[in-house]
Amino acid sequence: MKIFLDTANLDDLREAAPFGIVDGVTTNPSLIAKEGRSNAEQIRAICEIVDGDVSAEVVSTEAEEMIREGRELAAIHSNVVVKCPLIPEGIKATKVLSSEGIRVNVTLCFSASQALLAAKAGAYIISPFMGRLDDISSDGTELIREIVAIYENYDFATQVLAASIRGPLQVKDVALAGSHIATMPAKVFHQLFKHPLTDIGLEQFLADYRKTLSEVSVG
Ligand code: E4P
Repeated sequence: MKIFLDTANLDDLREAAPFGIVDGVTTNPSLIAKEGRSNAEQIRAICEIVDGDVSAEVVSTEAEEMIREGRELAAIHSNVVVKCPLIPEGIKATKVLSSEGIRVNVTLCFSASQALLAAKAGAYIISPFMGRLDDISSDGTELIREIVAIYENYDFATQVLAASIRGPLQVKDVALAGSHIATMPAKVFHQLFKHPLTDIGLEQFLADYRKTLSEVSVG
């Protein structure tokens, strides 16, 4: 499963990129707004840090405008994947942009039938917001499982990206459900490393090693 960071913050990306296991980045207008620069400037800067898919979202709601915006975003950098919302106009735009070879991430997906439409329009990625479903006591992981099964039934090449992840347990759940990608805030990425028994175990190993060293040098 690919790991994407769900952030437009350059410090988050500079901290995580050196691990070599971050495969891409997702942004949205809310994340970009926090950074105080234009979409284009911020996306260009992100592409210079992470060598992988970088999703940049259109803000129009009419297909023609989305297509124009999508072409502009795609021209910023070869890593850019254009994000279109899962509304009828967004599906029209996805069809046109995909047929031009522009990769599209269809966002704000909350049902398997919506995901079917996105795949049929040639989406490169579908983004089910599983965390927002969990937030309202719906089963977000089940939605990921359903979409993966439908795409497998019909050999769709569209990748499933589990979005709006809130914690490490959801990362494990979507990995088990067969999601191709999980996008998460930097905080969740760092939480994935943590286990108290790892820290306790390492501390003990190092203490024993130091003890042996001092015994050997005394002897
Ligand atoms: C994904 O592409 C979205 O940007 C993101 O996961 C939304 O997450 P939120 O529900 O935390 O806003």
